[in-house]
Amino acid sequence: MATTEVDLSGIQPGQAIKTTFRSQPLFVRQLTPKEIAEADKVDPSTLRDPQSLEERTVDGKKQWLITMGVCTHLGCVPLGAGEGENRGEFGGYFCPCHGSSYDTAARIRKGPAPKNLEVPAYKFTSDTAILVG
Ligand code: FES
Repeated sequence: MATTEVDLSGIQPGQAIKTTFRSQPLFVRQLTPKEIAEADKVDPSTLRDPQSLEERTVDGKKQWLITMGVCTHLGCVPLGAGEGENRGEFGGYFCPCHGSSYDTAARIRKGPAPKNLEVPAYKFTSDTAILVG
């Protein structure tokens, strides 16, 4: 299966980009310290799809949130990976199709989606690059 290399060097804290992986949207985001704190203050056991930010990121690189850009409800592309787009009430991503809101760890917090945005398999190939797939 095809892999995708993503250069992280131009992605600033607070910024998310949309690229593609295996013909599907992929979101790559650098979280700010505040966004990390917001994700960490939530007890995962209270969530619909219980996962901590640690479980969704690589050790020591918690600021890099790599997820598919595919809503787990019916597959629309959520907003939030791009300039000035609506990130919804939990500050992560917002799916305009039926109103699912994801938090700063891309975990489902409100709306019909059953699962968090999927984290694909990936690894860091340097401090500023990842290989997805
Ligand atoms: Fe995203 Fe329905 S497809 S809320």
